[in-house]
Amino acid sequence: MLGLTLGTVRFMFPNVLSEPPSTFKAGDTSSFEENKVDDKFKEIGAWVIRAKDERGRDIIYALSTTCTHLGCTPNWLESEKKFKCPCHGSGFKISGVNFEGPAPRPLERYAIKKNDDGQIIVDKSRKFQKEIGQWDDPDSYVLL
Ligand code: FES
Repeated sequence: MLGLTLGTVRFMFPNVLSEPPSTFKAGDTSSFEENKVDDKFKEIGAWVIRAKDERGRDIIYALSTTCTHLGCTPNWLESEKKFKCPCHGSGFKISGVNFEGPAPRPLERYAIKKNDDGQIIVDKSRKFQKEIGQWDDPDSYVLL
């Protein structure tokens, strides 16, 4: 009877709910260089970055590539160490915090964690906004 019930419940909630396609492996923690922005995952909407946070902690976090002004995709300018949006000129620091142009708030972070095997896993189905205190959530960064 229990088996039948579980089977029915599983039928009602297909696999896609337990394994969201928005989750991807970003590599081993040791493969991230501090203050380096790699465009490897830009096509799937994320930058995975290792840098110091406001408290000086060494962390890895995943930023959304969607500009918080009107949704264009900024570019990382290595020489200027900033993200620059080509649409209306918004600029974001490596942390994702906006500092120039019309963007009203920082880029958003995705949920991120470290697996038992040391792999960084990013979950794009969950987002964290700095301006409402969500970057304090330990699910929004991996502490090294
Ligand atoms: Fe990025 Fe307007 S969409 S500055």
